Amino acid sequence: MEIIVNGTSHRLSADPDMPLLWALRDILGLTGTKYGCGAAACGACTVHQGGRAVLSCQLLLGDVAGEITTIEGLGTPEAPHPVQAAWIEQQVAQCGYCQSGQIMAAAALLAGNPAPSDDEIDAAMEVNLCRCATYPRIRAAIRSAALRLGGS
Ligand code: FES
Ligand code: FES
Repeated sequence: MEIIVNGTSHRLSADPDMPLLWALRDILGLTGTKYGCGAAACGACTVHQGGRAVLSCQLLLGDVAGEITTIEGLGTPEAPHPVQAAWIEQQVAQCGYCQSGQIMAAAALLAGNPAPSDDEIDAAMEVNLCRCATYPRIRAAIRSAALRLGGS
């Protein structure tokens, strides 16, 4: 089967019932997307499918429909995505394990809603857990990124 990841097409000889997360990490070597629970309960594996946030531990390879973007495709050190720039500004990360999923969820939120309310931020980020409890900095970074993107 063929999937497009970060703008590159990949032909994979893999079981269509393999979770996308496995293919990203173990076949394509894109280890920025993390395995946390494998049960739709932590958000560490969040990527974009067609611009929308999805849990890659729950999406089977055979069901992928749309271009996949991972944290490696969101921005670069030289030209970070506004959400990544806001994350750096707010020094959000602690251990860092959850952060790629948090950033992908936040980027998808702001792509669809450039000026989210606090309640909308909380709702969009609900599944993304952080064992280091960086939640206040995550919210501050999302507000900062919204300003960078022209929202409020
Ligand atoms: S690893 Fe996918 S939600 Fe936890
Ligand atoms: S920064 Fe450690 S789990 Fe979120």
